[in-house]
Amino acid sequence: MARRKKIYEGKAKILYEGTEPGTIVQYFKDDATAFNAEKKDVIDGKGVLNNRLSEYFMTGLTQIGVPNHFIRRLNMREQLVRNCEIVPLEVIVRNYAAGTMSKRLGIAEGTQLPRPIVEYCYKDDSLGDPLVTEEHIAAFGWASQQDMDDILSLALRVNDFMSGVMLAVGIRLVDFKIEIGRVFDGDYQRLIVADEISPDSCRLWDIETGQKLDKDVFRRDLGNLTDAYSEVARRLGVLPNSNVTKPTLIN
Ligand code: CDP
Repeated sequence: MARRKKIYEGKAKILYEGTEPGTIVQYFKDDATAFNAEKKDVIDGKGVLNNRLSEYFMTGLTQIGVPNHFIRRLNMREQLVRNCEIVPLEVIVRNYAAGTMSKRLGIAEGTQLPRPIVEYCYKDDSLGDPLVTEEHIAAFGWASQQDMDDILSLALRVNDFMSGVMLAVGIRLVDFKIEIGRVFDGDYQRLIVADEISPDSCRLWDIETGQKLDKDVFRRDLGNLTDAYSEVARRLGVLPNSNVTKPTLIN
């Protein structure tokens, strides 16, 4: 088989030219990075878990009508996704204070916010993805006002979906980040959820114990990252070769 053309290699994923026009292959690596890649490691099995988990969340979003780039999983580490033009923003939704919001505003980690708060960061590693306002976004032409209305609506729908899915398995969705892609159907452009949704880009805390089940385990040296992600996958029933018994309906 001819070697596939690599389009881009990021910190946690590699993108290859897709097998069909308008598609790309997203390969999930085992590499973990934090603090703008100042901290790095290879975590055995992380890529496999994130490939599965992102498939699970994106498929659920499709089922409730939230457009996203996922087409199908190809194998343990790869999925076929729609090629799109990524809007250069990291869209963060927060339900509880944590991370940079706690630092910036002096709010204790874990404080419930009065309502979900959406923040935008400009996607640029060399600048450390700085927080920006809608004024910057409009003035620099990163997205139009109509795009911003659509992005807000997508972000809040993903938040409601992810909060519910997690709550059902005893996990609190503290915050998460998504990326948005532009796709063109003829002259018509649409915005869709792109990139990945996984414990790399969410904060997930056990509701009972507060145990962290996300990338903070790596950032803050709290234990084994694969164990944490496996626990999320196990609870959702998506762990590969899982021996978890799925609930069955009686009659
Ligand atoms: O994670 P950190 O404390 O650096 O930043 P944050 O603004 O508190 O992150 C909010 C949420 O977005 C967390 O769930 C992060 O994991 C996620 N995030 C991400 O996935 N990628 C980034 N470049 C920044 C944040």
